Amino acid sequence: MSDEASVPDGAVVEGGGPGTTGSDDPVATGQQARTGRRRLPRASVLDTIRVSIRVLLPLLGRGVIVRRPPVVDIAERLDLDRRAVREMQRLNDRYGEGPLLLRLPGRRLALVLDGEHVQRILRASPDPFSAANLEKVHALGAFQPQGVLISEGEEREDRRRFNEAVLETPRPIHSHAETFLVAVREQADELLRGAEATGRLTWEDFVPAWYRLVRTVTLGEAARDDHELTDLLGKLRAKANWSYLRPTDQRLRARFLGQLQSHVDRAEPGSLAAMMAATPTTEHTVPHQQVPQWLFAFEPAGMAAYRTLALLDAHPDTAAAVREELASSSDPAELPLLRASVLESLRLWPTTPGILRDGKENTAWERGVLPAGTGLVIFAPYFHRDDRHLPEADRFAPELWTRERSAADWPLVPFSDGPVVCPGRNLVLLLTTSMLAALLEEHEHHAVEGGLDRSRPLPSLLSPFNLTFRVERR
Ligand code: HEM
Repeated sequence: MSDEASVPDGAVVEGGGPGTTGSDDPVATGQQARTGRRRLPRASVLDTIRVSIRVLLPLLGRGVIVRRPPVVDIAERLDLDRRAVREMQRLNDRYGEGPLLLRLPGRRLALVLDGEHVQRILRASPDPFSAANLEKVHALGAFQPQGVLISEGEEREDRRRFNEAVLETPRPIHSHAETFLVAVREQADELLRGAEATGRLTWEDFVPAWYRLVRTVTLGEAARDDHELTDLLGKLRAKANWSYLRPTDQRLRARFLGQLQSHVDRAEPGSLAAMMAATPTTEHTVPHQQVPQWLFAFEPAGMAAYRTLALLDAHPDTAAAVREELASSSDPAELPLLRASVLESLRLWPTTPGILRDGKENTAWERGVLPAGTGLVIFAPYFHRDDRHLPEADRFAPELWTRERSAADWPLVPFSDGPVVCPGRNLVLLLTTSMLAALLEEHEHHAVEGGLDRSRPLPSLLSPFNLTFRVERR
């Protein structure tokens, strides 16, 4: 682990700046060696190839922006994420704490290998560690060029303020929760009616109901059945996966943003759109450009909830404790074990596996200077499943989230952390927990396809696409 005192958060090195290259570049010139400073470790060509194949390409292939079912299925079958974690551990053993520079043509990229480095980078974001990282700007620029995640400076500050105000980031229970919970109940009841009729709950049943909920919460009842809006965003996201190779489809983007704007303009009472209308804006805010991120980020929340059903099915003791919790209250504020189970689903199978940053300045680390413009990759599965630091790595351990966590703890970052932490975290947990509460209150869900094998460590990936439950009223 690093010596925190010697390297303060965001410590920058004089003379560097964004775009620093050529002879000023300490890595390129060996300046550090001449001045007696140690150099950051640099992976060999072979290790760069190995980590590209085992970590970086699967990360991109599965879709940083959209998860492609066939790729997720193959990744699950081949246990690719476990191999990726092992590869990162091997690099950590071989090169030490890093950050580890890779030898990639055309892009300077470093892997974060140390828990304290994760804390430091996330605390010192967005400056000097910018969240508007090159890869994200390419991908998200296709449908939300003015979204907070890829904004910088004054614009970022203003858009972040707006996001936090509408999503009520610090509040565990959103002030519109009452209307949201009516929508949750409506969708859960419809799902359960269907499941009682067929005896089954599949991902194909679950996902349209989840989207209806997401559109209702975000844009109001009148948007509930606007499947076209979700389809248009899906198409834009699929294209965004190939951001480097394809130009943005301007017509598609204009159609999506126009349709979205008309829902936002309605500002239906009880929805996030109503909160938007009541939140002050400036010339920087561009409110409707903040919404695509909310809509698409809700999809993995549905996956996390659905996977939680599989976790509870495979852990009857926790499921019984959750049922006791539900018997005494259905208030989502009073369901800590169910909420922790969703967080565990996100730890075990993080839906944002790559947290990316670009260093805006040269920054000092124990082992040397990281040049400005370097991309930093925090690969969440490595930290969430590193059995050298986390004895619970490969088992279901909701207690990780019910006990107090401190900044010195090993980082578990499904929602990231620090000033760029996901501003929708509490809202996501409110909706997923209440949806699960409604599904579990009077029904049992047992996996009949694609579930977990209790006799084995938890798999590195659990595809929701072929996970099917038998549903019975208790
Ligand atoms: C399972 C569901 C979700 C997970 C795991 C998740 C996780 C994350 C992560 C890891 C980041 C990146 C932060 C960083 O770069 O450090 C992020 C950013 C963000 N998330 Fe979420 N998110 C989820 C759902 C949502 C929802 C539903 C919303 C809105 C309703 C939302 C709004 C945002 C926004 C606006 C950002 C950009 C923040 C910024 O750049 O300042 N997220 N989220």
